[in-house]
Amino acid sequence: MSAKKFEIFSGTGGVGKTTLATARALSLAAQEKKILLITIDPAKRLKDLLGLSDEKSGETNHVSFDHDGEELKLDVILMNPEKTFLKIAQETNQHDILENRILKILTRPYGGLNEILSVVELQYQVNQDLYDCIILDTPPGSHFLDFLDSIERIRVFFDQSFIDIFTYLGKKVETNTSMNFGKRMVTMVVSGGVKKLLGYLSKVTGEKFVEDFIEAVLHIYSTKDAFLGALKLQKTLRDPQHCDWYLVTSVEQNKLDEALELKKNASDLFSDESFIAVNKCLNESLNNWNPAEGSQEEELKKFLIQREDQLKNGLQKHFKNILSFPEILSIDTHIHLIKLIQTWQKVRT
Ligand SMILES: Nc1ncnc2c1ncn2[C@@H]1O[C@H](COP(=O)(O)OP(=O)(O)O)[C@@H](O)[C@H]1O
Ligand SMILES: [Mg+2]
Repeated sequence: MSAKKFEIFSGTGGVGKTTLATARALSLAAQEKKILLITIDPAKRLKDLLGLSDEKSGETNHVSFDHDGEELKLDVILMNPEKTFLKIAQETNQHDILENRILKILTRPYGGLNEILSVVELQYQVNQDLYDCIILDTPPGSHFLDFLDSIERIRVFFDQSFIDIFTYLGKKVETNTSMNFGKRMVTMVVSGGVKKLLGYLSKVTGEKFVEDFIEAVLHIYSTKDAFLGALKLQKTLRDPQHCDWYLVTSVEQNKLDEALELKKNASDLFSDESFIAVNKCLNESLNNWNPAEGSQEEELKKFLIQREDQLKNGLQKHFKNILSFPEILSIDTHIHLIKLIQTWQKVRT
């Protein structure tokens, strides 16, 4: 294990995952820890919060944040599947891999390899061994489950039969110096039956497609070490010694219900050690509000406080660790972060 710890933020859309994950990352940075924040969530929020631009996606961005005069440093990656694939391809000296149009399509943000490549990126970063903690902001709701399933899909994809095919094709590649080997590959390595099938396919799709397809399979084969290496994460992410899970929700009945539903669907991940982070709580502000005794406003205050307490109490049978974060009454995102960093420093070291 090189990263000492992972922290994973999950939850349904709009509850504050990205905001809380960012504030958490900064609160750890304030303790002199070296932190990497990765967001798989394609939403723009992190870019707004930390002033990153789109061109920087897929790269490690070194970010500074002014925390009351103290400069906090943080590395941030906005997940970009194409860049991750390119990175692992370059490790095996394949630089023009994205000229293959099938791989180009597969590595688009919604191209099907997004989740798998996020896991690969995570493992890549673990191998670099640069950080004390890697914080992951996952896509909303069930997409975060796709992310986890993808680890299992790597295993299915590279099960022995696939490895056999890849090994066979791969051997032929090593003896081949030209990159444009697709057509010859068909003639050289593919069995009679498959050849016939590919022949039909090429009538429908054109020969170039079949060449591209075989080339894509071979390229993926040649990066298989990076994919299979990521399998290690399956165990690590389920181990409370190495990974903290945060289920983020906001303090509304329907959001809490959605959160509990997510927990049910991923019960093997949310162990007793995991946290529920209840965001946008109003009680702190309400307690500082002093309406006249006996007024309607006082009634309202009491009602709102009671309702929020009830909502939170309902969580106790599902989570041992309940963290509350206040609704920040400001439109300035810098102030949001400052206040939420302070909350993190109070609720969790
Ligand atoms: N504690 C908070 N107080 C006030 N607004 C918040 C708070 N947390 C998040 N928000 C706001 O809620 C919206 C959704 O937050 P975001 O972090 O993008 O959620 P998610 O990543 O879960 O979709 C944003 O507009 C953000 O400014
Ligand atoms: Mg988000």
